[in-house]
Amino acid sequence: MTKLRLAIVGAGPAGIYAADILLKAERNFEVSIDLFDHLPAPYGLVRYGVAPDHPRIKGIINALRDVLDRGDIRLFGNVQFGTDITLDDLKKHYNAVIFSTGAVRDASLNIPGIELEGSYGAAEFVSWFDGHPDFPRTWPLEAREVAVIGNGNVALDVSRILAKHADDLLPTEIPANVYDGLKASPVTDVHVFGRRGPTSVKFTPLELRELGELRDVDMILHEEDFDYDDAARAAVASNKQVFVIDKVMNQWRQRPVGEASRRLHLHFFAKPLEIVDDGSGRVGAIRYERTAPDGEGGVAGTGEIREVPIQAVYRAVGYFGTQLPGIPFDKRRGIIPNREGQVLRKADPTSGSAGWTEQMYGVYATGWIKRGPVGLIGHTKSDAMETIRHVINDLGNWWRPESPSEQSVSDLLDSRGIKYTDLDGWHNLDQHEIGLGSGEGRARVKVVPRDDMVRISRAE
Ligand SMILES: Cc1cc2nc3c(=O)[nH]c(=O)nc-3n(C[C@H](O)[C@H](O)[C@H](O)COP(=O)(O)OP(=O)(O)OC[C@H]3O[C@@H](n4cnc5c(N)ncnc54)[C@H](O)[C@@H]3O)c2cc1C
Ligand SMILES: NC(=O)c1ccc[n+]([C@@H]2O[C@H](COP(=O)([O-])OP(=O)(O)OC[C@H]3O[C@@H](n4cnc5c(N)ncnc54)[C@H](OP(=O)(O)O)[C@@H]3O)[C@@H](O)[C@H]2O)c1
Repeated sequence: MTKLRLAIVGAGPAGIYAADILLKAERNFEVSIDLFDHLPAPYGLVRYGVAPDHPRIKGIINALRDVLDRGDIRLFGNVQFGTDITLDDLKKHYNAVIFSTGAVRDASLNIPGIELEGSYGAAEFVSWFDGHPDFPRTWPLEAREVAVIGNGNVALDVSRILAKHADDLLPTEIPANVYDGLKASPVTDVHVFGRRGPTSVKFTPLELRELGELRDVDMILHEEDFDYDDAARAAVASNKQVFVIDKVMNQWRQRPVGEASRRLHLHFFAKPLEIVDDGSGRVGAIRYERTAPDGEGGVAGTGEIREVPIQAVYRAVGYFGTQLPGIPFDKRRGIIPNREGQVLRKADPTSGSAGWTEQMYGVYATGWIKRGPVGLIGHTKSDAMETIRHVINDLGNWWRPESPSEQSVSDLLDSRGIKYTDLDGWHNLDQHEIGLGSGEGRARVKVVPRDDMVRISRAE
């Protein structure tokens, strides 16, 4: 019987769902799957993006873990595609590869002053508070007044973690260095800036409502932002999500502002123009232009410029994918160009983005690197279904590897001295983290340094 030796690069939800869907799919060939990740632990942004105070969503790890625990997928953690293993290696050992490498960088925001000291990307901060091994252990939480740019769920995650009292995060899995950093934070005011109105936000009702439940944090809204035009009123009337968001904010508008030690300000119709230097190369203020509805559901600048003093700014304006060696990359969108998951290359390398027309046989993409950095964990499942359908149907065009045995891959990694981690290794690390937590009455405490993760996983 024909056998598909498949490599999947990226053990986030997209990669794990793709493996699961293929193994359960109706097909007339056998399958053997190796799942690679450059992190020593699997689960991608579910482990290193989803906020620690969202245990229900973090719990998706249990479902992903059940898939791996079935035992029909081999896991190779701590293996970086592009350096530890290359496309040529994969062609030698597999019939096909799916890239599910996600998007882990901050999108850029091109305004003057964004490079000042005290200006950060949300993705970097998220990686810090979620204990990502490749980020510094300490974070400079020295500002009393902070700006967060963006009106998506990441902006709300970052604002909430900044405004929340560290002790209220203690029941979560945050590592000790994160607790210590947040505990020492002198923050009093977090200002969130959205360039459009309250009915055009990208964040969702549940995440918004959570802000109003923070202990010792007052929500500050501005009446001028709620003078809705027809388009905004129509959005409230026709869209359930917008209706709830509007309702939540209305409740806050009627709530007397108390005497909390911290405040979370929502500024709408506020388009950031510049981060102002405090005179010493550090963030001193955010300058923004007041916008107004343009009558067609969008906004236009009014020419009115305002400034709010801040000492730190976080841009939460979206994530961006990273180019992989030997794999086509759409630099404008930050994705691997593809048609329903089939990776495309240019027949004519000098052509523009319309030139991605030729299928690169044997190479597929799924998840955020296929679609761009938008959508929930569940969306990566439907993504994976589409990609897997093509993997199956393309049987006649798979690569013909010269050395398809499973042993040949572990031999290759061993010969290169790569200290890979496997599923047993994840169990070791998982148990270790649970053990660390139980000593403190917590569900888990994350191990952060990569070397420690590898050592514990490999029981060295
Ligand atoms: C801050 C944040 C919070 C979020 N919170 C939620 C939430 O609460 N609920 C929700 O439903 N969705 C949430 N999302 C969205 C969710 O995380 C994504 O939909 C999902 O993780 C995308 O899955 P993915 O597998 O495509 O990418 P990822 O989860 O990013 O996985 C990609 C994997 O590829 C690996 N990788 C990358 N490059 C290489 C390489 N060169 N070699 C080997 N491996 C590599 C990475 O280490 C990673 O493990 C959040 C997103 C962010 C950014
Ligand atoms: N709890 C959760 O469920 C959760 C948590 C985190 C992330 N996620 C998901 O992960 C995905 C990514 O989230 P995200 O917040 O990174 O992205 P997002 O939802 O796309 O939000 C990006 C925000 O940045 C703004 N923005 C972009 N460019 C800007 C600019 N130049 N100036 C000012 N503002 C700008 C956008 O405004 P415009 O709308 O005006 O373009 C938007 O408000 C989303 O699907 C999100 O739902 C979910």
